[in-house]
Amino acid sequence: MGTQRGALVVFEGLDRSGKSTQCQRLVDVLRANGEEVHHMRFPNRSSPIGQMINSYLSGQAQQDDHAIHLLFSANRWESVRELEERINAGATVIVDRYYYSGCVYSAAKHIPSMDLEWCRSPDVGLPRPDVCIFLDISAEEQAKRGGFGEERYEKRELQDRVRECYHEMRKHPDEHADMVIVDAGRGMEEVEQEIAEVVRRVRKNVEGGESRLRTV
Ligand code: TYD
Ligand code: MG
Repeated sequence: MGTQRGALVVFEGLDRSGKSTQCQRLVDVLRANGEEVHHMRFPNRSSPIGQMINSYLSGQAQQDDHAIHLLFSANRWESVRELEERINAGATVIVDRYYYSGCVYSAAKHIPSMDLEWCRSPDVGLPRPDVCIFLDISAEEQAKRGGFGEERYEKRELQDRVRECYHEMRKHPDEHADMVIVDAGRGMEEVEQEIAEVVRRVRKNVEGGESRLRTV
């Protein structure tokens, strides 16, 4: 009998939805309980590919839209071995943005040769999350929070299209099955509690279920 594998928990949502804060809180709470947790985020800006992505997002470099899409995907693929090793060693892996972001931010550009299906294809074969927690925030609430940064995609009009693409993506049966929508327009504590409940349930399912990770 091998080690019980850990759960793969992904967070998704628009900029300003509170993703990074909620990820960090969850990581802190699980660690405080003595759990083995590994925290990842995409883009991972530290690798050579990640540095190219960072230059693109900050406006220092230009890229063809297809090329940058594939770099975002490659940036996930280069972390797959580490992700699988952590999961197989029993850690809960918490990921801040994953292939959903890869699909929706690119598809939101509305380039005819880059529909959602095309955008999803380079990520096919990645480890499939046990749950994708989607932090849902309305345009109004997002505007109230204000303070978009200076990065390339942090613009109202694109964000509105990204929101639509997330909902479009949920029509795919796998994403439909994996995505749990959490209303992130509420207070931080309330959101945190709902997330904790979802994660508890998912980890229980993983413990009682298939020992291998599925793939996208
Ligand atoms: P983000 O998580 O917002 O970084 P930060 O917290 O430092 O602002 O990610 C940066 C941007 O990259 C964000 O606007 C979404 C976008 N993105 C893609 O376009 N494709 C992808 O595959 C990923 C992971 C992110
Ligand atoms: Mg951001």
